[in-house]
Amino acid sequence: MKENNFQKKELVTDIQDRLNGNNIIAIASGKGGVGKTTLGVTLAQAFSQKGMKVLLFDGDLGLANIDTHLNMTPTETLDNVIQMNDPLHLAVTHEPTINCDVISGHSGKQSLAGLNGAQLKLLTDDLLILATYYDKVIIDLGSGIYENILQLAQCAKNCLVLITNTPTALTNAYQFIQLLSHENPAKEIGIVVNMADTVHEGEQTYQTFLTALKTFLHIEPKLKGIIHYDSMVKKSLQEQTPLLCFSPSSQAAQDILKIEENLSSKN
Ligand SMILES: Nc1ncnc2c1ncn2[C@@H]1O[C@H](COP(=O)(O)OP(=O)(O)OP(=O)(O)O)[C@@H](O)[C@H]1O
Ligand SMILES: [Mg+2]
Repeated sequence: MKENNFQKKELVTDIQDRLNGNNIIAIASGKGGVGKTTLGVTLAQAFSQKGMKVLLFDGDLGLANIDTHLNMTPTETLDNVIQMNDPLHLAVTHEPTINCDVISGHSGKQSLAGLNGAQLKLLTDDLLILATYYDKVIIDLGSGIYENILQLAQCAKNCLVLITNTPTALTNAYQFIQLLSHENPAKEIGIVVNMADTVHEGEQTYQTFLTALKTFLHIEPKLKGIIHYDSMVKKSLQEQTPLLCFSPSSQAAQDILKIEENLSSKN
């Protein structure tokens, strides 16, 4: 009896944690084309390979592209569900290649990008409830620093911000973090450096970025990983095959598996 009560309490705490978005990771960058979808898809598959139940949510509200990366034809899209006022779970498609559930957007549709604050609040509330059924939810955010992207990022406890060693990527990532941390100073932000030529270069990129964040925003997000520049990433996208299926031993795949371990060991 005592054991039953203990288990019930643990379950309630777990559900409350999930309703707070503790199992949700948002992937952002500010600038486009930095590697968000590649990281999102590969991380989702890495979590799934560890036995977790994973939902991958295409939060690129105007130019959704998870379905292109995975060469999948979703049975239902986020766009349709919102237009029909249907519950979000109806937009879930299971994608066997990565063994994850996916909620796909619809590229080129303005209706999602143009959701107003109240509509987006309904969507994020629905997502938080749906997220209680999963061990991990990964949101692949759109590029830019628009209000709807920031609002979507707010439902995740953890936000991974992807940077590369270019002035535009660093400036846009800084602007994104500035707005996100202003709206929610408690947000757990982690940095991932992508397309690094060497670990040393990746660490230097992180340190330069960190100096700016410390000096002007007074925050010190941790480095969650460095992903090497790897031609296999582009090839896997050309083949529309997830990186962990196309080339699991490639440097970039190994780097992302390390990020998964890093995230799992701290959660
Ligand atoms: N580590 C890497 N090494 C080499 N190429 C990479 C790496 N990461 C991403 N790329 C390439 O960069 C391009 C953009 O990647 P991806 O689509 O994942 O970025 P994104 O941030 O999601 O872009 P968007 O803002 O358009 O959604 C792709 O051609 C991808 O193959
Ligand atoms: Mg993308």
